[in-house]
Amino acid sequence: MKHTLDRLRRPLRDLRISVTDRCNFRCVYCMPKQVFGSDYQFLERSEILQFEEITRLARIFRGLGVEKIRLTGGEPLVRRNVEQLIAQLSAIPGLDLTLTTNGSLLERKAAVLAGAGLKRVTVSLDALEDATFKRMNDVDFPVAKVLAGIDAAAAAGLVPVKVNMVVKRGMNEKDILPMARRFRGTGHILRFIEYMDVGHTNGWRMDDVVTARDIVEAIGREFPLEPADPNYAGEVAQRWRYRDGGGEIGVIASVTQAFCRDCTRIRLSTEGKLYTCLFATAGHDLRAPLRGGADDAALRDTVAGVWTARADRYSEIRSSHTARLEKIEMSYIGG
Ligand code: GTP
Ligand code: 5AD
Ligand code: SF4
Ligand code: SF4
Repeated sequence: MKHTLDRLRRPLRDLRISVTDRCNFRCVYCMPKQVFGSDYQFLERSEILQFEEITRLARIFRGLGVEKIRLTGGEPLVRRNVEQLIAQLSAIPGLDLTLTTNGSLLERKAAVLAGAGLKRVTVSLDALEDATFKRMNDVDFPVAKVLAGIDAAAAAGLVPVKVNMVVKRGMNEKDILPMARRFRGTGHILRFIEYMDVGHTNGWRMDDVVTARDIVEAIGREFPLEPADPNYAGEVAQRWRYRDGGGEIGVIASVTQAFCRDCTRIRLSTEGKLYTCLFATAGHDLRAPLRGGADDAALRDTVAGVWTARADRYSEIRSSHTARLEKIEMSYIGG
């Protein structure tokens, strides 16, 4: 049976693939050391999808309309030989191929990644001041090395480089303006993300959220801003342009202005489970049929069935009650 998911209200456009559940950082809001310490049981090698398995699934998703694949983690660049996966995925025609990284290994790897066919990168950087950044990543990692990674990515042509800053009240809001000043005029696109209640280890409270509106207002007071149109339907970031031509910033208001209605994203976990929402409590296992001999048509029908049945709108129904649910961790499914 041929599925035409385009006819649905929410087409499937964006596939995020987590390639590892490990990370060399221990961000306090994502992989706190108390939970992800030295005794934490990460996935075994045999449980993890191999590159050939990922690529086979990616072709099936492409056939269902997916136009963008983003590799996530944990930290995708700690997956050994990830450039080989990128080379395999870049052979699939018509894909925007990108990844979200903490930038720590980017200086070393940017050229190889670009050579393998990666198109662009998004780098997470939550502070410009070392003391704050180190408090957040909890592994004493310096800002300068991430900045060097961003430079290396741009030099390798992985552009535009997007920089993601999750803003948590009492943690890094004083870095908002320094970050804006630092990236204005560089051609990189800085995006501020409202702190979300992903997973159930980060102890989220609504009071932790600095709203996108407040962020735009604060930056606009120093550098006047004007809204810009979305690049594509369902873009999660709202774009704002500096009026003097200094480039653009984005804000991702997933807490105060939910965008579930336009959600075109699906997520594949490191061990091959499919999640239709970042806040899902359960996934749909694709690894068993994949390893059990299912043909492409059967896998395609399974994915199409999962997508057409989805009714997720977590961000629209978030409350102090839902914040306590046993959701998957961000470190497990990527951003
Ligand atoms: P491009 O437009 O392709 O550059 O990517 P993007 O805007 O989708 O950005 P990215 O994947 O970097 O996502 C940025 C952040 O937005 C993530 O780290 C999450 O915090 C948030 N986000 C992304 N997708 C979703 C989603 O489906 N739901 C919610 N609630 N938040 C999301
Ligand atoms: N709220 C919003 N974004 C988050 N990320 C991680 N945890 C959260 C959270 N609680 C983002 C990171 C990175 C991506 C992997 O997900 O900043 O950009
Ligand atoms: Fe690692 Fe990213 Fe999670 Fe930080 S937010 S611990 S860099 S996966
Ligand atoms: Fe999509 Fe779930 Fe995010 Fe809403 S909360 S935008 S349904 S992933």
